[in-house]
Amino acid sequence: MTSRDIRQKYLKFFESQGHKIIPSASLVPENDPTTLFTGSGMQPLIPYLLGEKHPMGNRLVNSQKCLRSMDIEEVGDNRHTTFFEMLGNWSLGDYFKAEQLPWFFGFLTESVGLDPSKLYVTVFAGDESLDIPKDDESVEIWKRLFKESGIEAKDIHIGSEQDGYEKGMQGGRIFYYEAKKNWWSRSGVPETMPAGEPGGPDSEVFYDFGLTHDTKFGDKCHPNCDCGRFMEIGNSVFMEYIKNADGSFGKLPQRNVDFGGGLERITAASNGNPDVFKIDTLEAIVAGIQSALGRNGSKANYLDEKYKKSFRVVADHLRAATFVMADGMMPSNNERGYVVRRLLRRAIFHIDKLGKGDGVLEEGINSVIDSYKNSYPDLDKNRKKILSEAGAEEERFRHTLVTGMREFEKVAVGGRVSGAQASTLFTTHGFPFEMTTELARERGIEVDEEGFHKEMEKHQEISKAGIQEKFKGGLADTKEETIRLHTAHHLLLASLQRVLGPHVKQRGSNITAERLRIDFSHPQKMTSEEIKLVEDLVNEKIQARLDMVRREMSKEEAEKIGAEMEFGAKYGDVVSVYFLEDKDGKPFSKEFCGGPHVKSTSELGHFKILKEEAVSQGVRRIKAILQ
Ligand code: ALA
Repeated sequence: MTSRDIRQKYLKFFESQGHKIIPSASLVPENDPTTLFTGSGMQPLIPYLLGEKHPMGNRLVNSQKCLRSMDIEEVGDNRHTTFFEMLGNWSLGDYFKAEQLPWFFGFLTESVGLDPSKLYVTVFAGDESLDIPKDDESVEIWKRLFKESGIEAKDIHIGSEQDGYEKGMQGGRIFYYEAKKNWWSRSGVPETMPAGEPGGPDSEVFYDFGLTHDTKFGDKCHPNCDCGRFMEIGNSVFMEYIKNADGSFGKLPQRNVDFGGGLERITAASNGNPDVFKIDTLEAIVAGIQSALGRNGSKANYLDEKYKKSFRVVADHLRAATFVMADGMMPSNNERGYVVRRLLRRAIFHIDKLGKGDGVLEEGINSVIDSYKNSYPDLDKNRKKILSEAGAEEERFRHTLVTGMREFEKVAVGGRVSGAQASTLFTTHGFPFEMTTELARERGIEVDEEGFHKEMEKHQEISKAGIQEKFKGGLADTKEETIRLHTAHHLLLASLQRVLGPHVKQRGSNITAERLRIDFSHPQKMTSEEIKLVEDLVNEKIQARLDMVRREMSKEEAEKIGAEMEFGAKYGDVVSVYFLEDKDGKPFSKEFCGGPHVKSTSELGHFKILKEEAVSQGVRRIKAILQ
């Protein structure tokens, strides 16, 4: 079956169970500045899982484009990818375990036709300290489902992943694991969840590819073993908990189901081949890359173990970069754009390992678009733009590579790459650190990784100090007008946070005697109402005659009280914090800052925003004056 068949079958199956099909959200989250990319189907649905009414009802289904950029280093084996499609169905306070588990089992065994004897499941073992019970209810449902397929399903208590390697399968079919494996929230296990975050126990389904266990991974095999015998193909999260401010857990106003299943992995299971790069879509991309290389005279073949990893990296990274670019994010140095840049550059690096790179990037991207255009017409619509952006990035990178490689060769002669050398390769020649390590590994040369990171820290401190000399705290001079605008700048940042939300962080600033300028993180254009609200709040605080008070304290103390600090800035052990506070000492704003400032906001006059505009994706700029 093709991945397209499986996507269609899944959507139809849940549609026939009363679900409304919703479109995939963008990979670039619209209202969620806490995350770089959409990494699971539930992310765009958070408000509805917390209780808001969804316009399409309380049963939803879709196939969501996802990107997990933190997995970039894992790509190369038979199942890790950065981009993937997550099949998702949701109950927003509607059905629960008794419906979800039989439906998913039915979808896998009847619609996809998987052999039930190859399915193994895991459930939550409970956590006494949090007063959350083990999930016996799911176990009973699973036992019944397997029994109806003629399988006697034994349940086994495992505990941690490590316990799994000691205990092994023990003839079991249903396995209890602790929270690290069978609890899901956006921010991981219960301990790491912030207050207000929803989460819950989950039940995962694994497909047994029947491979022999590799003891390199541990003594005995178990469903969560990484040897490749088992692959997780779906996860039903029973999202009924919310973390309280005191660290305990309470119940959400509604019981939700959040199901996510990897489309590529389910397709791989239906093929009986554990290599996800052999499913239709990815296989076509690999073939496109291979034939482009072949035209350049390369004999590199995917089936050759020597080349497999590079083919997988190129196919995965080009697919991910293409999808992100189609969602409007181009390669750059800002957070999200940098991920695109890194994906493209790593892809080019691996293309070069496979043969002569001329035209391969372009053909690779074309094969991504061709492979997916029927399901994602936006790719085809943006083809020209994607190709030209990627081409420009390739040109920039190749330029960097030429000098970087020359410098690397000089260093490599010494038989060892020191931290300082790796850092110079990166900061002076733009040669990515991972390329240094990769090339060094190939040649059996050691790289001082720790030294590299130390050097990079030093480097950042030096460049920061340089900036501070140029502009003391972002001020062009210390004229009286400039100082007044500086104080207004603090009022403005705090007001933006009150009106737009706590995700607003300063990303840059520049103040002259004529106007102030602030760059700050915010995912979209401000509305005229928001601009008015911010202006009004600043003027209200000017009229409230707040005092500007400077206090020195330890950096830890300042961090503890939540003083605003600039992104990426380095501070000493003792810092100066400026408070704008009312007569009772209640602060409206606290910022790490070197001054200077006026004594009271009553000296400021009337504040006015002149302009609000984009600087880059996710960063806005405001210019404002005092009248
Ligand atoms: N949100 C769940 C996951 O990503 C389904 O695994």
